[in-house]
Amino acid sequence: MIPAMRDVIVAANWKMNTTPADAGELARTIASRTREPGVIRVICPPFVCLAAVRDALAESDPDVAIGAQTVHHELAGAYTGEISAPMLAGLATWVIVGHSERRRDAGETDELIGRKLTRAVDAGLRPILCVGEQLAERDAGTQEAVVQRQLTGALAADDPERLAAAGLVIAYEPVWAIGTGRNASGQDASAMADAIRDALEAAGLGAGAAAATPVLYGGSVTSANIGEFLAEPAIDGALVGGASLKPDEMAGIVSRAGLTARARRAAA
Ligand code: PGA
Repeated sequence: MIPAMRDVIVAANWKMNTTPADAGELARTIASRTREPGVIRVICPPFVCLAAVRDALAESDPDVAIGAQTVHHELAGAYTGEISAPMLAGLATWVIVGHSERRRDAGETDELIGRKLTRAVDAGLRPILCVGEQLAERDAGTQEAVVQRQLTGALAADDPERLAAAGLVIAYEPVWAIGTGRNASGQDASAMADAIRDALEAAGLGAGAAAATPVLYGGSVTSANIGEFLAEPAIDGALVGGASLKPDEMAGIVSRAGLTARARRAAA
């Protein structure tokens, strides 16, 4: 599979930032500054801002997709403070699953993340599954084994072909690069993308579907370093945290993604 066939995606992970009063305006501003043919844009605001972002984008730029930052692994019940996949109907069409901050702060395991994936896909949400190693694991040279174990664990309980058909996206986010200003090299990200597609195949995905699965890089992505990642044919975009709250940064990142999208189309 040539990369020309894969989506180019820039996803904004706003984390625990913005309020219902200001999220719509920020989304509108980012949308208006990131119109690039061929680039899929996704904005993932906090749950309480989803409706404001939806309403703002419905008027100004319905091409921008909206995602949630996580979802619960059960459908309904006594889970105080949680949000289930069916509750996102009409609010979001994408969802981030297994972000390292949730693995760290909410104790999410690969098995639990797999259940979330299933719920997301059952509800028609397109999932972005996050994987990535800790610094000590990279220093020990075990990063590929760690990421492959995370993938295998998260995909074990569902049919990988079904997840791929639902548009599964993998985000490789080395934990030591998230919010630290330190980023992996393009080469490291590319090598990991290859390892990720190998793991998808090992998990039971056909070679074609594994090769067609978009892999994003995440971890201190900015307009200044996005080019290093998108220069790698194995990388299909970015999951952006801190810089995704800054319209100037998003404009630069999506503009660079537009170059990749155009080059892929020309090569197709
Ligand atoms: P960062 O976050 O860009 O602020 O490093 C990325 C992420 O956590 O998705």
